[in-house]
Amino acid sequence: MIIVKLGGSVISNKDEPFSFNEEAVKNIAEEISSFYPEKKFVIVHGGGSYGHPLASKYKIREGMGGIERMIGTSITHQAMLELNGKIIDIFLSKALPAFSVSPSSIFIMKAGKIAYGNIKVIMELVERGFIPVLFGDVCLDEEKGIDILSGDNIISYLEEKMDVEKVIFLMDVDGIYDKNPEEEDANLIENIDEYISIDSSIKKFDVTGGIENKIKEAMNMRCRVYFINGFMRGNLSKAIEGKKVGSIKEADKSYKSHQPL
Ligand code: ADP
Ligand code: IPE
Repeated sequence: MIIVKLGGSVISNKDEPFSFNEEAVKNIAEEISSFYPEKKFVIVHGGGSYGHPLASKYKIREGMGGIERMIGTSITHQAMLELNGKIIDIFLSKALPAFSVSPSSIFIMKAGKIAYGNIKVIMELVERGFIPVLFGDVCLDEEKGIDILSGDNIISYLEEKMDVEKVIFLMDVDGIYDKNPEEEDANLIENIDEYISIDSSIKKFDVTGGIENKIKEAMNMRCRVYFINGFMRGNLSKAIEGKKVGSIKEADKSYKSHQPL
């Protein structure tokens, strides 16, 4: 089973509220359709300009805070359902049996991580040939009451609990760079393991915000992880086929996906 993360930076323009990159999602669905049903997939998408502005407007990461924040939590969840619906519709139009699974209905968080998860439904959907489509969402939290659960954290959890062949992160840049890619002298890191082993510290990357968490989560995964540009046609197919593209973190030597489906 392959997990594909449709980054918020690919499916929407983060600077334009409620924008949706229909073309990019169509291309991604088309590439996936040429491998389905031989390969099994779980899709996780980000919040982009649907989730992030609302999550910060209602200060959801600060936890429970009265009726206004509760309403805001529901509004944010509904916005994510709207974005999720657009993605599902495109997959269905490409004859892919995408099936929406709300993370807030199956996970509970604690201290920024998933503390409880009921993923039996996801496993059984995959077994029957469906393509579960999850997303960064609002989430109940054991201490704060509520929090935001990122798609990247969901992927870490699924990778730990399921038999995952590889994880592919689709981003708006070509992969992981040695510093912020906006800087002129930034270099793409093709083999993350080699780079990390030089000083074995994640801090070696000059990273900002979401990308730091993404790299940390990936380094803890057992399977092979790709970071690729989701706007370049053919990239996703190359990653699915196991070819060299973007940045790669190799699978742990002791890890073997039991059923490389
Ligand atoms: P997504 O929304 O695709 O899940 P993020 O927005 O969290 O991803 O992270 C991708 C962004 O991180 C890119 O747009 C890039 O500009 C930024 N970034 C900052 N530092 C780095 C780095 N060292 N390597 C790659 N991207 C980086
Ligand atoms: C964020 O999910 C979800 C909400 C803000 C509700 P992610 O953290 O996975 O989203 P992106 O990929 O960074 O946009």
